[in-house]
Amino acid sequence: MCGIVGIIGKEPVAAGLVDALKRLEYRGYDSAGIATLESDGHLARRRAEGKLRNLETRLSEMPLQGTIGIGHTRWATHGAPTENNAHPHVTASVGVVHNGIIENFRELKDELKAAGAHFETETDSEVIAQLVAHLMSKGANPQDAVASALERLKGAFALVFIFEGHDRLLIGARRGSPLAVGHGDGEMFLGSDAIALSPFTNRVTYLEDGDWVVVTPDTLTIHDATGAEIERPVQTSLASALMVDKGNHRHFMLKEIYEQPEVIGHTLANYLDMSRQQPKMPEDLKFDFANLDRITITACGTAYYAGLVAKYWFEQYARIPVDIDVASEFRYRETPLKAGGLAIFISQSGETADTLASLRYCTAEKQHTLSIVNVRESTIARESEAILPTSAGPEIGVASTKAFTCQLAVLAALALEAARVRGTLSTEEINRLSRCLIEVPRQTSVALHAENAIEVIAKDLAKASDVLYLGRGLSFPLALEGALKLKEISYIHAEGYAAGELKHGPIALIDEQTPVVVVAPSDRLFEKTVSNMQEVAARGGRIILITDGEGADMAGDYAAEVVTMPKVDPFVQPLIYAIPVQLLAYHTAVVMGTDVDQPRNLAKSVTVE
Ligand code: G6P
Repeated sequence: MCGIVGIIGKEPVAAGLVDALKRLEYRGYDSAGIATLESDGHLARRRAEGKLRNLETRLSEMPLQGTIGIGHTRWATHGAPTENNAHPHVTASVGVVHNGIIENFRELKDELKAAGAHFETETDSEVIAQLVAHLMSKGANPQDAVASALERLKGAFALVFIFEGHDRLLIGARRGSPLAVGHGDGEMFLGSDAIALSPFTNRVTYLEDGDWVVVTPDTLTIHDATGAEIERPVQTSLASALMVDKGNHRHFMLKEIYEQPEVIGHTLANYLDMSRQQPKMPEDLKFDFANLDRITITACGTAYYAGLVAKYWFEQYARIPVDIDVASEFRYRETPLKAGGLAIFISQSGETADTLASLRYCTAEKQHTLSIVNVRESTIARESEAILPTSAGPEIGVASTKAFTCQLAVLAALALEAARVRGTLSTEEINRLSRCLIEVPRQTSVALHAENAIEVIAKDLAKASDVLYLGRGLSFPLALEGALKLKEISYIHAEGYAAGELKHGPIALIDEQTPVVVVAPSDRLFEKTVSNMQEVAARGGRIILITDGEGADMAGDYAAEVVTMPKVDPFVQPLIYAIPVQLLAYHTAVVMGTDVDQPRNLAKSVTVE
């Protein structure tokens, strides 16, 4: 979602602001803008609808020269994604960029209007600029005005302010949305994440929730939620060292799909003892699997489907019942939880608002909280009792791919650990399944060989307006994930179903125009899925079967197209079968000509409800 940045530099900052915003593009946005304090002491801004190249064109026609400025990529919540609603919001004395939602903006707007303020936009964010400007018009200095304004704001936000007449001062604040400070040499930077700051510095201070910060070229004064001054550590960020370009690939998504053998391998190396062929978990995990009688898993989007796979693993192999729900429902469901239970949260970004709220609920309910995150400095990581990080590296494509399979890798090792501790699997079986996991990076490389065949199938799939995905057992979450991927990036309507549910509704949709993607490795449930395929074929449905060699031999005749995967143990199937469903969505989107890495309306990190 929205990305924010601020720079106090020695040279003009417009190019640097745009560069930082480019690194925040992956979060999803539909307009962008920057404002700088020009040499005449006035705030000047340039904004544009759509992609950053439109803003760059605007800047080349009307350059900005200021050496201090703020910038924003906007994902519209309140008000259409027009230039007029784009940030920064500027009054005569203050400019602001905002990521989040101000829940009490109507009340504040009415109050400010009554005091004479004139509003120009439909956004919630404009009230922040107007409120601070109002307080300054009553005599407050910028710091005091921001401090008082923060007390009035309800909701989630990360903010960066710039002030007319103060060419060496930025103020930032975070409540609910992330914000980091980058330390330069006589220059300072504020940004939504370390990736945004990576062109400038790798020395980063992460603000804690409730912090606000006064930044000058050489100083940083942080106040916590109580207003007290506080020190926060300067950390060395890895973001600049990590590759955040597309390499030889046409899209980040394809690059990230191809990185999977490597990053799954890196992730597994942290959670498997390769020589002893058994899981290995950090020693500081405070819960005891042997005495757990339930696990609660909460996540959103693709991460939720990783959790759904894990439910099958924990229940089947470790014999622990698992409750799983999407975080937006869980957080308000007021589910009773027995103190001392284990609650697992899965989030690539570690910033998803609903998952964070669910974590806080579980913390209040005295659960052990364990989070599987890709961003170690994230809020969810910081607020969890323990984390099991994935080693996927920065994921830039909005549609999650490598983060998903890395989440699966962690969860598979964790389920094996639970089975080991609980004694529900023999040592030989633990060793055997660990060996299966060790083989996964190689098997995912083999799965990638199906790309050419999938590219051909995608040409046809792109003609469909609806697509069904079916799967059973561990392949059911994969069917859901396949349908989600297709919807997200190709904009073709798709639904995932448990194959056994076919007769309870979706079969009514089957006709020659509706392709049915069946995810069905040749496992113990294969024959049952084949029966469902026959039911589809009998009604003229066009089947795309994703299976292994054995499955293709047994049921290939019912399918119009077959995608063949390597034969693997059922335990690791989800990690392998993720690859073809990702590639199918990717190539269909390429045929459709959509914006694969930044699909319309979607955000990478959903930091508001
Ligand atoms: C958004 C993204 C998805 C992601 C979901 C959860 O919808 O577009 O790719 O799966 O959020 O994000 P998280 O960062 O919590 O994994």
